[in-house]
Amino acid sequence: MTNHHSKFSLDDCRVIDLPKISDPRGNLTFVEGGQHIPFDIQRVYYLYDVPGGAERGGHAHKGLHQLIIAMSGSFDVVLDDGRRKMRYHLNRSYNGLYVCPMIWRELDNFSSGSVCMVLASNRYDENDYYREYGAYFAAQGLES
Ligand code: TYD
Repeated sequence: MTNHHSKFSLDDCRVIDLPKISDPRGNLTFVEGGQHIPFDIQRVYYLYDVPGGAERGGHAHKGLHQLIIAMSGSFDVVLDDGRRKMRYHLNRSYNGLYVCPMIWRELDNFSSGSVCMVLASNRYDENDYYREYGAYFAAQGLES
């Protein structure tokens, strides 16, 4: 049986330092699709009013690229490529976690009042999701 692997792994995911214009009147950060992040932005969504102890995510995307930013407060993102897991703590408005396609992600440890903004490379498409870890793992071509 051929054991093919997804071309995407945890090594392709990283925290991106976004431009920050510091100013005594307040700081300003901006994101340009294709410039500061390796995709064009088709959609923006955000999580807010997350109750203490809640977990979000729990899925992978087949083709979607995303940048996850803690606009306010903090939370953790656990990325998993089927081989390794990495936990990121996001708490700066000028940092974004780039998540490439075919990465399982879970979000937890939300501080009260936190806002998680996600920039995405495509519009919402339920067919782009793996919502079961087993199906995701099989699609990665890894042995269980
Ligand atoms: P989901 O992606 O599972 O949320 P999270 O990863 O943050 O835990 O989406 C939750 C619900 O919202 C699901 O029914 C799909 C819907 N949804 C949209 O309609 N449009 C969107 O852009 C997103 C992200 C979700």
